[in-house]
Amino acid sequence: MKIKLIALISALFILCVSCESNSKIKKTDSVNNLIMDTHTLSNYQDLPIVNTHLELSVNFQERKLKGSVTHEFEANRKINLLKLDTKYLKIDSIQDGNGNTLEYSLGEFDELLGSPLSVNLNPKSNSVVIFYETTKKSEALDWLVPNQTAGKMYPFMYTQGQSIFTRSWIPIQDTPGIRITYSAKIKTPKNMMAVMSAANPQEMDTNNVYSFKMNQPIPPYLIALAVGNLEFKAIDSRTGVYAEPSMVVKCANELIDMGKMVDSAENLYGAYDWDRYDVIVLPPSFPFGGMENPRLTFATPTIIAGDRSLVSLIAHELAHSWSGNLVTNATWNDFWLNEGFTVYFERRIMESLYGRDYSEMLALLGFQDLESQITKSKPNMQLLRLNMMGKHPDDAMTDIAYEKGYFFLRMLEENMGREKMDSFLKNYFKDHKFQTIVTEEFLIYLKDNLLDTNSYQDLNIDQWVFEPGIPENCPIVKSLRFENVETSVAIFLENGAEELKESSDVWSTHEWLHFLKHLPDTLALVQLLDLDNTFNLSNSGNSEILAVWFLQSIKNDYRPAFENLEKFLVKIGRRKFLQPLYLELSKNEDHKIWAKNVYQKARQNYHYVSFNTIDKILN
Ligand code: BES
Ligand code: ZN
Repeated sequence: MKIKLIALISALFILCVSCESNSKIKKTDSVNNLIMDTHTLSNYQDLPIVNTHLELSVNFQERKLKGSVTHEFEANRKINLLKLDTKYLKIDSIQDGNGNTLEYSLGEFDELLGSPLSVNLNPKSNSVVIFYETTKKSEALDWLVPNQTAGKMYPFMYTQGQSIFTRSWIPIQDTPGIRITYSAKIKTPKNMMAVMSAANPQEMDTNNVYSFKMNQPIPPYLIALAVGNLEFKAIDSRTGVYAEPSMVVKCANELIDMGKMVDSAENLYGAYDWDRYDVIVLPPSFPFGGMENPRLTFATPTIIAGDRSLVSLIAHELAHSWSGNLVTNATWNDFWLNEGFTVYFERRIMESLYGRDYSEMLALLGFQDLESQITKSKPNMQLLRLNMMGKHPDDAMTDIAYEKGYFFLRMLEENMGREKMDSFLKNYFKDHKFQTIVTEEFLIYLKDNLLDTNSYQDLNIDQWVFEPGIPENCPIVKSLRFENVETSVAIFLENGAEELKESSDVWSTHEWLHFLKHLPDTLALVQLLDLDNTFNLSNSGNSEILAVWFLQSIKNDYRPAFENLEKFLVKIGRRKFLQPLYLELSKNEDHKIWAKNVYQKARQNYHYVSFNTIDKILN
């Protein structure tokens, strides 16, 4: 940590002296403020833990994890006070590595950050063992009853660590500013397999005890666990899928290209450093599309469309194996370094597998999301480098980080040439692997390795990173396939849905999305009925199409779709779908009453991340 600080101070100094334009960097209060994570109450800068061992048993009856965590530090420490993050945990007792009881205290509870746990260490021992259990309030955990699973026979549980939820299931220094290796021993009920972001079993264990090892150092938000009646199916020698038995064949078939994706990613930006790459398809309550838990991406079942049309999500989570997991944002202010790079990388994988006209559709949909995000966001949330102090870091999960980040990198590519850009990115991952990075360090690296003082200025780099809005040198995406869709919108409005049958026959999901999003804001009932009867949209098996169709249905009070909308809201817990739908519903009094009624049934099917968001919408 100290070395990093000194390196950053000297680099910033050189940058400021050599580059008058870099006023933003000059103005920052102090370098320590840049790398300090304000979303932890731990003393990770003074006494970072380096290795963690978990021993937990999974109790579905009481909905809790119970057991111990052991943390180890480097030898020769000068400090004997350890401060960890906790939130909604019950601490039972704490010992040193030799079994001696240690004194500890829990500090004042903070709604956002939880309670710091201070432990008086034994100067002669380099580890602590904390005996603890989770509680009903632990935000990371989702406990599902059998009826919420595909098989309806066994319960299910999973964790979601990012951004600051790991502290609600493990007392730990819950900051992306540290990296730890970890191991775990998880005891499950019968017929339940445990999997983690680590080397995983591929079969049930007859003793119901599963051992895990993660030898590559990772930030604590990437520690993850899922327990259920799971089966594994290989895709090729290093990739495969975990899912409930009734789903696993379908999932493996959907994700058949995973192996090719890893190959393509390696060709772009260097070797995959995590051994295997597997995906677990979770029950529908999972609040995200995907979560890049190392070696084992957690994914929503809503990407299983039957036609492989939503697999860019896997390309995205896989890309995080470089951007995010190998090179990690040091604080949540630098979240765009994780996500913007990943979207860029994702689209390069998609381009190499499915062609440029396919990836350009994704890019154009992304640009439209960016434009709409800009109209919704306050100026201080339109920056790539954010200041999230005092706010929940999850609020940084907007299309600014993802899409403005993407277009920033694409702008660099278009100006410097793809060849230079690719070798720059490859070296960036190599030079920072298993490290954390802040925006300012990246900018220094960028200036040293891709740009120079003049091009740094000419390309408006500071404006992109530190100012709101979309700079005028933002790349322009053109998609012929989407232009044809726009013609089809006009044809539909003129002549009805029947006229679209032939042209839309070859449409991908993305063309459908573009079509539905480009319909005028108000449509007549007959037009909606016409579309629905011709294309059976209310019964689409594709969750992305359904979500956009339902949004149009709410806007136009198209009641025939509401029955299926209700089923969708009750079943699916993915926040990206739920949030816009409930927001639109809450704009009209009748709809809001309807939505509150549905929510009474649906809320129990959502993870904390989702119900916390929807609670606020429906208050
Ligand atoms: N790491 C994110 C999910 C995340 C972000 C969780 C912030 C908690 C806080 C993941 O990689 C992601 O971006 N998921 C997207 C999918 C993607 C294709 C844009 C999602 O879930 O929608
Ligand atoms: Zn992501």
